[in-house]
Amino acid sequence: MQNILVTGGAGFIGSNFVRHLLREYPSYHVVAYDKLTYAGNLKNLLEVHDEPRYRFVRGDIADKHSLAQAIREHNIDTIVNFAAESHVDRSILEPDAFIHTDVVGTYVLLEAARQFQLERFHQVSTDEVYGSIPEGFFKEGDPLEPNSPYSASKAGGELMVRAYHETYGLNTVVTRGSNTFGPYQYPEKVAPLFITNAIDDEPLPLYGDGRQVRDWLYVEDHCSGIDLALHRGAAGEVYNLGGGNERHNIDVTRLILRLLGKPDSLIRPVADRPGHDRRYALDCARLRALGWQPAWGFEAAMAETVAWYRQNEWWWRPIKSGEFKAYYQQQYGQRLTAG
Ligand code: NAD
Ligand code: DAU
Repeated sequence: MQNILVTGGAGFIGSNFVRHLLREYPSYHVVAYDKLTYAGNLKNLLEVHDEPRYRFVRGDIADKHSLAQAIREHNIDTIVNFAAESHVDRSILEPDAFIHTDVVGTYVLLEAARQFQLERFHQVSTDEVYGSIPEGFFKEGDPLEPNSPYSASKAGGELMVRAYHETYGLNTVVTRGSNTFGPYQYPEKVAPLFITNAIDDEPLPLYGDGRQVRDWLYVEDHCSGIDLALHRGAAGEVYNLGGGNERHNIDVTRLILRLLGKPDSLIRPVADRPGHDRRYALDCARLRALGWQPAWGFEAAMAETVAWYRQNEWWWRPIKSGEFKAYYQQQYGQRLTAG
């Protein structure tokens, strides 16, 4: 493993992972391959821009010619696939792009990995493929019961990864990560949306009763878990990757407000997300047996994240005043008026 193609490398977790690989593995060459959709941002990779072991290639994972060229040109031996349409609410508004990237794109990547006989293919998946669990914890062998177009498309891509291992013997590994937060997360996701809205004294649109539970994972811990599974995970295996920080949305919201010194009156209950999963929770014993454990506590990591958004308005203000405005109006306009 020397020349790694990180697809979706200009997104939130992908860009954090590019930095992680370059820092932890001085002999690796890393190519970030990204279509630069609304969520991709080269500013996420500014810190590694001058690193000689790093390259950026603009391309679609569903474009086999562009992909083949990148693999050949950079002598790629490993793919870590972060590229995806990643936001549940957008998948409810317009599922098309989710099928294109998360299903078809994953298939095209797998074909390329097979054709070029790559050493390893890592699929970055999500705990949402299991659906919702009222109590207890999902294990890797549990059935997949995705409930949104996003999670269904991620499950589709992931099952194709399984098939390429079983049918063609491709050396694959899958991680199913839980709700991730940290620097460079596009402000459509709840943590950066609520942090940046609160900084501006704007309302925080909390869906439904706010009692849904997510298992929060700091982005650096997500990266270290992917790193371990990539290097040490068994071929064809799936690993749950959760922070072990179950919190109700209302409590996450109140924590963010407390860290910013803002009042709870900014919380605005609004109409719920259709098909909203009530609770996600993972049993991560399999990955922990390989030696992984999260380094961050939830409150400390959220404080770090809040501080980052306070200090990096140069990063998020242009996003919130661009494409995001039309999306925000479509997603929240009526909800906020009605609320
Ligand atoms: P993100 O939306 O921030 O980044 C996705 C990146 O993929 C963007 O840079 C985008 O430009 C790129 N992309 C989209 N379509 C593409 C295409 N067709 N070809 C090439 N590039 C394309 O997403 P994220 O939150 O960083 O998530 C990364 C991965 O991790 C996704 O696969 C997601 O399903 C998974 N995941 C995310 C979380 C989370 O909480 N954010 C948790 C578990 C798993
Ligand atoms: O669990 C892993 C998944 O976590 C990833 O696979 C997805 O890519 C990622 O987007 C995330 O999905 P969620 O739907 O859980 O994340 P989101 O930030 O959109 O929402 C988190 C919770 O907050 C969820 O219960 C919905 C709620 N929420 C969200 C938004 C955007 C609100 O109450 N108000 C909001 O405005």
